[in-house]
Amino acid sequence: MITKIKKVDEESLKEAKELLFNGEVVGMPTETVYGLSAIGTNSVAVKKIFEIKGRPADNPLIAHVHKDYDLNKLVYIKHDYAYKLLKEFTPGPLTLVFESKGVICKEATCGGDTLAVRIPSHAGAQELLKAVDVPLVAPSANLSKHTSPVTAKHVYDDLNGKIALILDGGKCSGGIESTVLDVTGEVPRILRAGLVTKEMIISVVGSCEIAEHKEGDKVKSPGVKYRHYRPKCQTALFKEEQIDDIKELYQKEKSAGGKPYIMCANEVAEKLVGYDILFLGSGEKEIACNLYDKLLEGEKIATLIIAVEMPNERGAYMGIMNRLRKSCG
Ligand code: TXA
Ligand code: MG
Repeated sequence: MITKIKKVDEESLKEAKELLFNGEVVGMPTETVYGLSAIGTNSVAVKKIFEIKGRPADNPLIAHVHKDYDLNKLVYIKHDYAYKLLKEFTPGPLTLVFESKGVICKEATCGGDTLAVRIPSHAGAQELLKAVDVPLVAPSANLSKHTSPVTAKHVYDDLNGKIALILDGGKCSGGIESTVLDVTGEVPRILRAGLVTKEMIISVVGSCEIAEHKEGDKVKSPGVKYRHYRPKCQTALFKEEQIDDIKELYQKEKSAGGKPYIMCANEVAEKLVGYDILFLGSGEKEIACNLYDKLLEGEKIATLIIAVEMPNERGAYMGIMNRLRKSCG
């Protein structure tokens, strides 16, 4: 199969719509990461997503809808706080887990009684969702376990020959996957940290819990138990205080004939003059936006990426650290 990359426009949207209604899958941009989409009620198409990605069969997919779509068609909204969150943070990088009405096929929800729903803010995503006017289920458009794609070219690098079309909506502005929030209980509970932070949720609804995923738990968000986001080269993860260890490992890799790169915030890079650096930028927004891009650039040029941890885990740094541990830890 030839994989085409096409800028989002009237013609490519028409082609994407035709492919989707013919039971094919299509790469689509969102403001977080690129998604691999299929019509959420078409179990044959949804199975293709799992096959193409090599995704474990027990890891459910998020249903994406446009901003005027009536969520009551898909889920039961039990708690008033969920409306507040929808009003404040959507369209945007927040996924809400509700009790499902069973409209989306069981292949997508993995037979569970909940459904994760997201209203992406990316203009191209909205246009596609409007054009089809039905929910599209979409995981990140990477091979399972690999780093999530933030450009159409990244999707192509993983899925070339496996899908017919990737809609190109430019580089994702967010850069890490949406916050997944369980809103089935009295208090919202973060299942996966992202750019809509615990602090932001508390500021709107007064409380928010973080789900703890311990060994042996009945995990509420199956995806979090898997190894994820890994680049193809070797990786290591250090705290900023361990600068001497970072330098030592770097020199060791060099002496062995390797090509090490240190991936860190710009402020940390200032202390590493003369070293090869993958610059993450400065501040949580910029670092989130660059994280996967730098990992995917790094795996092409480095034998070893030595990543440096964030200064704290407040705000969006929580989601960034979660990805850093899984990709490089
Ligand atoms: O930003 C995003 O969320 C991107 C873009 C494409 O929208 N999508 C994405 O999908 O990251 P995926 O499949 O890579 O991750 C979905 C996460 C997984 O951790 C999965 O376990 C969780 O959401 N999830 C999906 N449905 C769920 C449900 N019903 N209950 C709990 N967790 C669920
Ligand atoms: Mg993913």
